[in-house]
Amino acid sequence: MERREFLKGLVATGTAVTVAGTGIGPLIKKGYAADKKEDIGQCKSLKITCVSETSWFDTPLQLQIVKDSGGTLVSGYAVPWNQDNIGGYSALLEVEQLDGSKHTILMDTNWKQDWCDYVFQKSGVDKLLENKKIDIMVITHEHFDHYWGIRSTLKRWEKVPLVIPNTFYPEGKALLAGKYKNDISKVYNDIPHTGHLEELGPDRLLKLYPGVAVKMFDVPIMHRVRGEQNFYFNIKDKGIVTVTGCCHAGLMNIMTWAQRNIEGAKLYGCYGGLHIAVFENWDPKFDDIIKGVKRLNLQQIGCNHCTGWIWAQKARAEGLPIVLGTQKYTTYKKLPTTGPGAKENVYLRNGDVLVI
Ligand SMILES: [Fe+2]
Ligand SMILES: [Fe+2]
Repeated sequence: MERREFLKGLVATGTAVTVAGTGIGPLIKKGYAADKKEDIGQCKSLKITCVSETSWFDTPLQLQIVKDSGGTLVSGYAVPWNQDNIGGYSALLEVEQLDGSKHTILMDTNWKQDWCDYVFQKSGVDKLLENKKIDIMVITHEHFDHYWGIRSTLKRWEKVPLVIPNTFYPEGKALLAGKYKNDISKVYNDIPHTGHLEELGPDRLLKLYPGVAVKMFDVPIMHRVRGEQNFYFNIKDKGIVTVTGCCHAGLMNIMTWAQRNIEGAKLYGCYGGLHIAVFENWDPKFDDIIKGVKRLNLQQIGCNHCTGWIWAQKARAEGLPIVLGTQKYTTYKKLPTTGPGAKENVYLRNGDVLVI
């Protein structure tokens, strides 16, 4: 086909109108940056309580189990996890609206059931569930450490309103239906979830309350998991704060998505696992992530879990605003091997609270 005819065809089908003959400009405008940005409103403040960020306690041991079982391509349901080394990830998010009303959100439900029971009791989440004081629960993704402790939540309130990504595998769906038991990975649940269930896809932004939205990124993730959803809070006089489970979609992607798609988005901060130096081994690209995050000009970075202590330390040394945690986590019955004894606590750890 002649070049002129090819271009004519594109114009006729409405596919693209070129800028200076490149074809690039209109495609970016049409298919990448949305013409219409989403207005998510504003909230007054956000209180984040780290219920637990210790999904495993001994990182080298966890890495060895992953290696011995065939690596990160193997489904998590097929791995004989060491039950003495696992804990879980969850956070309590309390939002104050501009009119003074409040909403309480539970993000994720840990991994091992008795650890989930323990940290729910330490943080008061157990009573909130029993008294139906959780407005909504969001499971960020199907990973074991965020989701497999679901029985601990359901035994307190089987009707808790729930949002999950719409990409769960059959095992994950069976687990939620109370019909799953696995003798290898030792995950099970016999209590069906019977409340409202929202399965969120990547094509829309779920606006929960003024200034609070959930976005699902349909990304492939290690250990055969697909899709992770994160929160965007738009806090008055501050800006956009993202709250993540593992941040498998990448902090840069998540933040630039907000800039391109949320009306008036001014980036402010983040909380959660950032999935950078997961197993504490260094990679030169981690330096580039520091440079990239600097460009976002965030004011507060609260990180923990799969961020990598090694990355958080280096990021702080290079001037990123890493929020320091307290020593409260040392009062918990089990401690991570990474961190205790360090001069500074570069993680927001179990029991820590961040108010923005
Ligand atoms: Fe995780
Ligand atoms: Fe994860």
